Amino acid sequence: MEFSIKSGSPEKQRSACVVIGVFEARKLTLPAELIDHAASGYLAEIVRRGDMDGKAGSTLLLHDVPGTLCDRVLLIGLGKEKEFRDQAYGAAIRCAVKALSETGASDGTLFLTEIAVKKRSSAWRIRQAAIVAQEALYRFEQFKSKKDQVRHPLRKLTFAVERRGELAPGEEALAQGLAIAAGVALARTLGNLPGNVCTPAYLAETAQQLAKEHSLDCQILEREAMEALGMGSLLSVAKGSVQAPKLIVLHYRGGRQDEKPQVLVGKGITFDSGGISLKPGAEMDEMKFDMCGAASVLGTLKAIVQMKLATNLTVIVPSAENMPGGAASKPGDIVSSMSGQTIEILNTDAEGRLLLCDALTYAERFKPATVIDVATLTGACVIALGHVASGLFANDDGLARDLLHAGDEAQDRAWQMPLWEEYQDLLKSNFADMANIGGRAGGAVSAACFLSRFAKKYDWAHLDIAGTAWKSGADKGATGRPVALLAHYLMARAGKLN
Ligand code: BES
Ligand code: MN
Ligand code: ZN
Repeated sequence: MEFSIKSGSPEKQRSACVVIGVFEARKLTLPAELIDHAASGYLAEIVRRGDMDGKAGSTLLLHDVPGTLCDRVLLIGLGKEKEFRDQAYGAAIRCAVKALSETGASDGTLFLTEIAVKKRSSAWRIRQAAIVAQEALYRFEQFKSKKDQVRHPLRKLTFAVERRGELAPGEEALAQGLAIAAGVALARTLGNLPGNVCTPAYLAETAQQLAKEHSLDCQILEREAMEALGMGSLLSVAKGSVQAPKLIVLHYRGGRQDEKPQVLVGKGITFDSGGISLKPGAEMDEMKFDMCGAASVLGTLKAIVQMKLATNLTVIVPSAENMPGGAASKPGDIVSSMSGQTIEILNTDAEGRLLLCDALTYAERFKPATVIDVATLTGACVIALGHVASGLFANDDGLARDLLHAGDEAQDRAWQMPLWEEYQDLLKSNFADMANIGGRAGGAVSAACFLSRFAKKYDWAHLDIAGTAWKSGADKGATGRPVALLAHYLMARAGKLN
């Protein structure tokens, strides 16, 4: 798909389709009024008859509208003007792109990007439009023998801006949006791949490929190297599987040489059966998504590299498969982590934290500015926050604030949960320094508390994406969250967000 930005009036566009918005209560947006004027009241009459009432999600396709140079005009209902905020804007773009791709038009010019959104700049509207459009057009059909044939594929999208002065910032925002969209697509595809394809070795190859394409530093640590480092906790997770564990490390150096790196750590369990503490059968297939944290940090890296952001970024992916083989960890086993702290494994299904804790200790050697881990860590987080917000925990309030803000900017939101000392008691073990579970109550918090014990030497945040990384049901599939949040966080830190 080709994208561009343009300023000019809607009635003068030589486009296969011009897309304009209509608010509820029959209120035409300014571009719609311009077309209506050129067409001597043609749109107003259609709206008056009730064929387009402006309800959010409604669409109406018109052909050969008098006074225009385009083949088609697509009207998009925007809902109530007063309620037209971030979310309604994203929904309107999504609706427009989906409707457009079902017409015969091979290109479209969207005037929805000209509509004011409270507190948002024109650059924000363009960036979001690019992300949402690519998200709406994403397909994952590599395992379907008959591909969904699109008869008239959309080849070009143009976003309109009101003033010529908005063109330059719009171009930069468009490039950022497309880079983020590419990262989101990578994360979705890795997430959607089945566990028999996307193994720890597959993730390692993907990382090496990324490194080759963009000349990044990439290192894959094998079992022996991890043994030498004393990563007994991480390695214990892989013992029940025939798939060898991998520790993937990637460095992007786009910032000053002396600038400390931002470090992202992603949980890469390529299938989580629960191990000896086996999960129930229902929906167990969805545990192929247990590497979505890994997918999201690789996706974020792709976005940052593609937009050539002036920052130093290190990505660490500890990866393994959690299976109940003969050599698997058993409840009651005690392992020793790289930090020296010992862990009693009371439930082999709480494997994410066992894997991540050693990766967090390993991160120390990079003298990080901040460390953010991303993990489909707990079912309890889904109970707490549902599928809307990711759970955010941090040992530094400034970092938490920056991440919440980035999530808001990116429309990929998180919500902060407590990490108070009182919760640490949940992890008491009679036999080791700590247990790997803290009971049902406050399950997302005790998991974060566990990780916090390995993140004492730097500013750290943890995103529990168990509820946001994928969708179940008819739309089952990875979402690519929180790539947009993380990319916006890094862009803001580099002073590249406007
Ligand atoms: N990967 C799961 C978390 C998960 C479960 C994510 C369901 C999304 C949906 C994780 O490894 C896990 O199994 N966690 C356990 C922890 C418990 C044993 C303390 C859980 O949440 O049940
Ligand atoms: Mn598990
Ligand atoms: Zn898991």
